Amino acid sequence: MDTPLLVLNLKTYPEATAGKTEPLVRIAKEVAEKHKKHVIVCPQAPELARLSKQFPPSPHFRIFAQHVDVVSQGAFTGSVAAETLLENGIPGSLLNHSEKKIGLENVRKTIEHARKVGLELIVCADSVEEAKQIAAFHPPCIAVEPPELIGKGVSVSTTKPEIVTHSVKEIKKISPRTVVLVGAGVSTAEDVAKSRELGAEGVLLASAYVKSRDPKKLLEEMLLQL
Ligand code: G3P
Repeated sequence: MDTPLLVLNLKTYPEATAGKTEPLVRIAKEVAEKHKKHVIVCPQAPELARLSKQFPPSPHFRIFAQHVDVVSQGAFTGSVAAETLLENGIPGSLLNHSEKKIGLENVRKTIEHARKVGLELIVCADSVEEAKQIAAFHPPCIAVEPPELIGKGVSVSTTKPEIVTHSVKEIKKISPRTVVLVGAGVSTAEDVAKSRELGAEGVLLASAYVKSRDPKKLLEEMLLQL
């Protein structure tokens, strides 16, 4: 996983649905390439195949899914298989987001399967404790997000800086090659700068970008601090 990295999770926000998704993805791609900083955007599942054709990967830009299921391809109605994402031009996914928890055993199985088929994963953890358990499975990337700060507009790096420093220290002790991101409430360029100062290799954010009146300006400012 290339660093430093900024990940934009579009969730199921109405501001990032159907016709409103394109401008947000286009801005992310253009700004990433202009500033030569790595950006990943995670739109909703029904939009992935269309968007991956419209905005193919480039040196600093990729589209990931928000979730992938533990199953492989087969008789698994309603599931999202890693292989199907790859066949539709989606090279990676978030996993175990605090709004889509799957349990530690499924996290382990999904990491193993993704490694086998070549799907990259950003695995979310809601605490340093969970991050340590996940680090034992050596995923390419872990994003630590305290759930109580998600969507609140107050950044983990300013309110709970110790979570950032502990996460980096503990994850790297167990899995030195795992990239460590932090998220929850990351809303400004200063939040990005602070997260980097505390040792994170990037950030994961959603509402500040999706709901911004000027997402291009916000992302430009954030990438300058990344
Ligand atoms: O996946 C990112 C997320 O959970 C953080 O949300 O809105 O606080 O940036 P937000």
